[in-house]
Amino acid sequence: MTDHSFPNDFLWGVATSAFQIEGGAREEGRGESIWDRFAATPGRIADGANAIVACDHFHRWREDVELMRWLGVGAYRFSIAWPRIVPQGGGATNPAGLDFYDALVDELLAAGIRPFVTLYHWDLPQALDDRGGWASRDTAESFVQYVDVVSRRLGDRVRHWVTHNEPWCIACQGHEAGAHAPGRRDPAESLRAAHHLLLSHGWAVDVLRRNSPGSEVGIVHILVPTEPATDCAADREAAREADGAMNRWYLDPIFRARYPEDAVADRVRLGHLESPRPSFIREGDLRAIAAPIDFLGVNYYSRAVVGADGAGRPVAVKVVPASEQTDMGWEVFPRGLRDTLLRVAREYGPAKIYITENGAAYTDAAHADGRIPDERRVDYLREHLAAAGEAIAEGVPLAGYFVWSLLDNFEWAHGFAKRFGLVEVDFDTQRRRPRESAH
Ligand code: FCB
Repeated sequence: MTDHSFPNDFLWGVATSAFQIEGGAREEGRGESIWDRFAATPGRIADGANAIVACDHFHRWREDVELMRWLGVGAYRFSIAWPRIVPQGGGATNPAGLDFYDALVDELLAAGIRPFVTLYHWDLPQALDDRGGWASRDTAESFVQYVDVVSRRLGDRVRHWVTHNEPWCIACQGHEAGAHAPGRRDPAESLRAAHHLLLSHGWAVDVLRRNSPGSEVGIVHILVPTEPATDCAADREAAREADGAMNRWYLDPIFRARYPEDAVADRVRLGHLESPRPSFIREGDLRAIAAPIDFLGVNYYSRAVVGADGAGRPVAVKVVPASEQTDMGWEVFPRGLRDTLLRVAREYGPAKIYITENGAAYTDAAHADGRIPDERRVDYLREHLAAAGEAIAEGVPLAGYFVWSLLDNFEWAHGFAKRFGLVEVDFDTQRRRPRESAH
């Protein structure tokens, strides 16, 4: 880090999401979300956990803001639970939900920490999924109404808005792989869901401009550089296909008002799209999706090394030993962050980029004196910050960096077993203890 200088106004932050930390799942009028339902379904969460309490942030938020003040961060990226605001997804709003985030925003501002608000981090109201979820265009309309309610209330104080967190993950893990809520395995549905997510983003941009004038508005994508396992034609082709499906499918509509032609052809060939112009994409949709944004948020964790299976389809190939992987089984690959930032800047030209998530899951025992030496996390962060610094030196308009995560939390289908926090959480007592990485 000492080799590279970050701009003076660079935003240093930590990130969390509502479902992963809040708990209070049945309190003060919050409705059920698809993740409540999913976690309650036997076999869905590795350790059988649910997030009814999680980090109990719903009651301990003042303490958590105090932790961030102690850390010295300038920004906090958190998400708003849609089912707390509009418990049934549409219709009546829940004043207690709005009050909760209103007080949190004020507490952050008083602590000198900028609220960086994500409007959708995966916790769809269950009532909307019962009516088709993201596969239905109506959900995009409901999202816009919810964004309107939130931004009318907070738009005077929040200066940074993220519409969606990782549409790829929602569409693919939730609707194609079935590993995340709502747990379906239907590739055609997954593409419809992706389109409605992107469309609702574009519509929400307009609402945010109106209700929160002068604020920055963007979207967060997980970006995964895909590299062919070998130089053979089949592996290179598989890496191209994976890049099209994971990265360009989500970047091209936002910045170029179109889906990538080669990736569309892949999906038609696979029978996931009825034609290159499927009926769920309506006149004007792509223009709406490409509404100008102020920043792109990039979540970066690792790369994918891709080979071709017997049928020529992409499969992930492990190229490093377990010792060079995090507890998620993800390879530590800092150069991929630099490469990704350079690629996005060169090919899509966003006005600004924030690294909205970067971090690592490792478990380290506390020493007798209470210190928690998490050297691997410290190294991970150090190396990725160096990579970010290199990207800045090469002209990337990088404006901020958020560590995932402030706290150990409910890591989706992994439950509580994967620990990403700068701060350790004891889930029996809710004690928070900063690790060395926090220091
Ligand atoms: C990202 C998610 C975040 C967290 C990290 C580890 O894909 O946005 O909620 O689970 O992965």
